[in-house]
Amino acid sequence: MRRTIVAGNWKMNASKESVNKLILGILSGMSEVRSEVVVCAPFPYLSQVEALITHSQVKLGAQNLNTNSSGAFTGEVSANMIKDFGARHVIVGHSERRSLYGETSPLVAEKVKAALDSDLTPILCVGESLEQRESGETEIVVAEQINTVIESVGIDAFRNIIIAYEPVWAIGTGKTASPEQAQAAHLFIRDLLRKSNESIAQSTHILYGGSMNAGNAKELISCADIDGGLIGGAALKAEDFLQICRVG
Ligand code: 13P
Repeated sequence: MRRTIVAGNWKMNASKESVNKLILGILSGMSEVRSEVVVCAPFPYLSQVEALITHSQVKLGAQNLNTNSSGAFTGEVSANMIKDFGARHVIVGHSERRSLYGETSPLVAEKVKAALDSDLTPILCVGESLEQRESGETEIVVAEQINTVIESVGIDAFRNIIIAYEPVWAIGTGKTASPEQAQAAHLFIRDLLRKSNESIAQSTHILYGGSMNAGNAKELISCADIDGGLIGGAALKAEDFLQICRVG
């Protein structure tokens, strides 16, 4: 059985005050949560979150990393720096990074490798745009995004990789994929892994992301191949986030 994972992606939304309130709110409701819970904070807040979640079940993640371990890369952050703040996860290849910052699948694969080399668990995001879905290219796009990583790090590395299927048209739009649409995409991804290794296909967590909220989380997470969620907007309010965490 795959344990449900609920990860919050705060994106570029935080202040010292809001982080304090949000984490204390989450911690106050964790006793009823059975899912694994991760919060992916913006870099400047990693230290603050690290201190707040000490001795709790909540895990810390970052939202991006550079492929290099150190050096003259002004403005960039390495896997080791992220680890230094107690983070165990890092989001890689989010669609906002692919579309706004030109991250290609080969670069995303390098970032996955850099994360794994530092013992961070990458949360590898994949997903199609509306145009790609409407022209029937969903499977081609998702297969390319995943196969590029398999070719780069090997299928065995997926023992330590979490996949997040995030259809771009559902992100921040309030338009969630239907459970049928999401389950079909998740099954496609699992079958793709199965072609390389059956046991890895069975054990890999595939999270859904895209307007998941307290109202639709249960229906989505009950689908056979949906193992949790990567949550944007609804991860910014403790009670909404906790309601999703309680589903698992
Ligand atoms: P929303 O939940 O705000 O749609 O964002 C999803 C997402 O991009 C998580 O990474």
